Amino acid sequence: MTDADHQILFSRDRIAAEVKRLGAEISKDYANEEIMLVGVLKGSFLFIADLIRAISVPTVVDFVRLASYGSETSSSGIIEFRKGLEMPIRGRNVIIIEDIVDSGYTLECLYNKLLNQEPRSLKICTLIDKRGRREVEIEADYVGITMEDGFIIGYGLDHNEYYRHLPDIYLVRET
Ligand code: PRP
Repeated sequence: MTDADHQILFSRDRIAAEVKRLGAEISKDYANEEIMLVGVLKGSFLFIADLIRAISVPTVVDFVRLASYGSETSSSGIIEFRKGLEMPIRGRNVIIIEDIVDSGYTLECLYNKLLNQEPRSLKICTLIDKRGRREVEIEADYVGITMEDGFIIGYGLDHNEYYRHLPDIYLVRET
């Protein structure tokens, strides 16, 4: 990828501001309660690392690993579970942490699976809500940034596994 192929869409400062806002909202909503963050690997690893430090209520964390199949830029709706939870969620206030919701297939699949395990409450937090290609009706309760469409990389989001380390989020020109 060359410099001409991508440009900064959401800067590290914008991301930090949204993470701070989300952390404050979650802390307010769960004041005097305990929460459990469930990060969806791999994409959410940077977001959850920053978000958990912006939350002031007692918080535990666990991870699941899901992968959606499809072309490089669109989902087929086939989701594979590669790693499950290590901690029980029954009776806990659970918040699923995603880097991006696109078609919504990944989240729908995970949400229903976790709901079956009888958490006390179950909410969804995503840094990016990409609404233009939503295939299933699913809404996040906490949203950092809304966008319509476009292929993005950086801050956990990859292209063929690369670029997750970039501190800003870039829009990639699709050829
Ligand atoms: C990405 C992203 C979400 C999912 C969203 O994960 O992290 O989990 O796709 O897409 P959807 O709404 O269309 O289901 P991906 O499967 O690319 O794996 P990764 O997190 O390891 O990059």
